[in-house]
Amino acid sequence: VTLTLGLETSCDETSAAVVENGRLVRSNIVSSQIALHAPFGGVVPEIASRQHIRAIVPVVQAALAEAEVTIGEIDVVAATQGPGLAGALLVGLTFARSLALSRGLPFTPVNHLEGHLQSVWLAAKEPLPPEPELPMLALIVSGGHTELVLVDDHGRYRLVGRTRDDAAGEAFDKVARLLGLSYPGGPAIQKVASDAASPSVLPRAWLPGTYDFSFSGLKTAVLHMAQAQSSGLTPEEARGVRLPQIDVASGLHPEQVANIAAGFQESVVDVLTAKTARAAAELGAASVAMVGGVAASQALRTRMQERIDRPLHIAPFAYCTDNAAMIASAGYYVPRTPENLDVRPGMALVGA
Ligand code: KG4
Ligand code: ZN
Repeated sequence: VTLTLGLETSCDETSAAVVENGRLVRSNIVSSQIALHAPFGGVVPEIASRQHIRAIVPVVQAALAEAEVTIGEIDVVAATQGPGLAGALLVGLTFARSLALSRGLPFTPVNHLEGHLQSVWLAAKEPLPPEPELPMLALIVSGGHTELVLVDDHGRYRLVGRTRDDAAGEAFDKVARLLGLSYPGGPAIQKVASDAASPSVLPRAWLPGTYDFSFSGLKTAVLHMAQAQSSGLTPEEARGVRLPQIDVASGLHPEQVANIAAGFQESVVDVLTAKTARAAAELGAASVAMVGGVAASQALRTRMQERIDRPLHIAPFAYCTDNAAMIASAGYYVPRTPENLDVRPGMALVGA
């Protein structure tokens, strides 16, 4: 049995986990900073770094305690190297390297996106489900990334498509802020969208001939629609006026917010699902996976289940948003010993 201690501090969750043989989650402690960042409508890097420093020791201790192991029983330590916020990454990576060094344990740096991919291999209890069939087409949808990746094997990926501007989660967060909803935007939009009487019709960027995505035009369309409804002007008139974004939400009725949120969510879900289904068929994927924070979206999960015509693996809710169990899994399946152990805030999955 190999026990991997994983650490994740790339953004606003301080997390530590113990994973057995890369798949069985013995513990997965996530200390979320959401409440600290919510007043600012997004993650404040300096606040994130400081909070990681406060939380890292108790979070690691809790992960060991819940797994009912001591540090002496851990075989390997893994931590996120990038991509992410430089100062935030530095805390987890430095702590993990120091811990490994002081205990004489091997250390492996992990690409955060590789971690998200591994989340479909994780399970909280035995018997473990069968492993996903390869090659697997994976849709990585998070706050920082929207990518379609063909996974030939652990550590062997081909980039199929990616967003040309905003990530899907980033679009959820920005639109939520525009509509006066709370951070993080995804769950807030999902909640109000369920009350929508007649979802607004919003555009979709299909980018024909590619598997790429674009969400910035949709975001602008939401802004113009919200400005028009908020001011009582037609969309054409509102275009000339340009209400300050900060004031838009205050002029909207809750029903208008719900309808716009539902239309926005529908547009994102439609494009993500259609492009994934087409890529899976055209590339002959044996299975499809969906991972990352936006994979927690109920509307997206339901539509994927309806539209994907082959085995579909959606990360369990607990492993969609950032967590250290997925980092431990990547550390087990794809151990790396690069000479450069600095943080890599702009690290890519393919071609790095
Ligand atoms: O993977 P993650 O925790 O962090 C990154 O690596 O970026 O993803 C966070 C993102 C946020 O943008 C959040 O709004 C989004 O995931 N998210 C959702 C939902 N839950 C979280 N988006 C849509 N619907 C949800 N239910
Ligand atoms: Zn993530």
